Amino acid sequence: MAQQDACTLLDADHNEVIGMFEQYKAAHDARRHELLASQIAQNLVVHMQIEEEIFYPAFQRATGDEALLQDAIREHNEARELIAQIDKDRRNAKLMLALEDNILDHVNDEREKMFPKARATPGMDLMALADQLEARKSELMAAA
Ligand SMILES: [Fe+2]
Ligand SMILES: [Fe+2]
Repeated sequence: MAQQDACTLLDADHNEVIGMFEQYKAAHDARRHELLASQIAQNLVVHMQIEEEIFYPAFQRATGDEALLQDAIREHNEARELIAQIDKDRRNAKLMLALEDNILDHVNDEREKMFPKARATPGMDLMALADQLEARKSELMAAA
């Protein structure tokens, strides 16, 4: 059983990836940059997938908020587009900074809009969702 609710769990992922972007910017060697770029991409891909498979549908069912959901998915797709470019050009720091900008904006939307609304919606079982998110994340990380 999860010790924290789904929003706290997802926000821990956010903090982890924001920390990795900080490491990326502080690093000065190409191999370290490439390693961090691929770790950041992997973390984000898994994070977006568990949100889209588990958290977002539950949010939509409980809140009926279509607009917030569409914005979030659009931001995910923008991130995926940048990640696909980075995969082909791992030394491109400009693309990494563009991805960081996109992610910071998106994380802000989740923190300021989506998570408070989820917590204020009685129909959402955020503890049960945390268990599902955790299980699916382990599965995807093991397969990656
Ligand atoms: Fe997120
Ligand atoms: Fe997201």
